[in-house]
Amino acid sequence: MITTMFNSLIGQDEVKRQLSFYAKAQNKTGVAPFLMMSGAKGLGKTEFAKEYASNLKNKDGSKRPFLEVNCSTIKNANAFFEQIFLPIVMHNEVTILLDEAHMLPKDLVNAFLTVFNTEKGSYKEYHHAEQIFAFDFAKQNFIFATTELDKLFAPFKDRLTIVDFKPYTVDELSEIVDLVCGEIDFEDGLLTEIAETTRGNARSAVKRSKEVVLYCESNNKKDYAKKDWQAMSYTLGIKPLGLSNIEIEILSILKERGNCSLQMLSAVTGMSRTAIQKEAELYLLKRGLMKINGQREISGKGINILQKLS
Ligand SMILES: Nc1ncnc2c1ncn2[C@@H]1O[C@H](COP(=O)(O)OP(=O)(O)OP(=O)(O)O)[C@@H](O)[C@H]1O
Ligand SMILES: [Mg+2]
Repeated sequence: MITTMFNSLIGQDEVKRQLSFYAKAQNKTGVAPFLMMSGAKGLGKTEFAKEYASNLKNKDGSKRPFLEVNCSTIKNANAFFEQIFLPIVMHNEVTILLDEAHMLPKDLVNAFLTVFNTEKGSYKEYHHAEQIFAFDFAKQNFIFATTELDKLFAPFKDRLTIVDFKPYTVDELSEIVDLVCGEIDFEDGLLTEIAETTRGNARSAVKRSKEVVLYCESNNKKDYAKKDWQAMSYTLGIKPLGLSNIEIEILSILKERGNCSLQMLSAVTGMSRTAIQKEAELYLLKRGLMKINGQREISGKGINILQKLS
């Protein structure tokens, strides 16, 4: 399907196809599934949800209003019904994004189990505190987003349609950097090198780009060369491949001591074994900078990166 939706956003082709399909269906038939945007931080869940919502139309063809709520601010089901649903949602045409959905209070999740059980029709009444709350899904679109899908109560998750975000490729991140940097011209190969430091994350790519724009503005430059990137990386402490200090420390330990057990790494760094496994090793393994063969071992690529740093 050729679509003009999401034109200003890079990559996530599957997400784009899926959301365009639902937006089109919604505008024709008046109903769409309850969506759950799922993926790591900074992959564009909120941005895509907003763009999707901005393409939804009311019955009279006007644009459907959009309301964004962070679930961590909802104290309990009562607060949701009294402060959000009653005044803003009920009887109105509106799209509501419930962000950080893993923070939804338990009693509200329970209420939602009933509310979003809509095999029969698109209208649901929920009785709460001696009142009747009418959910009309021809008028109200519900979108959820979370970084922690696994923390969601499974029966609730079952009622939602999952939209799964993937990390960006280096080429896509280069496009994002190029887009945000506008008029700035990059020396050959430099966009890739910059994109590599953003670790698959669109938000990091946007942040990095803004630093480049600042650098260029404060130095009156329109061309950005390797020496500018070196100067900026030094000043801001940007490491090759966007490595963190703890990742570099682990590489250094493996280089100096030779192969190590997880226990040894934990003793030397003072980090717990799980923290090393969850926060430090994953990216090193993914980028092929270390290997695990029973023991932890630095790769040739890992040694090269350390040399670049010294
Ligand atoms: N595909 C994309 N193309 C261009 N820019 C993007 C893209 N996806 C996200 N961005 C930009 O990256 C930044 C982060 O996106 P967003 O806030 O939507 O991420 P998120 O997944 O909601 O993150 P979090 O889990 O922290 O809430 C925003 O500035 C957004 O404009
Ligand atoms: Mg978000």
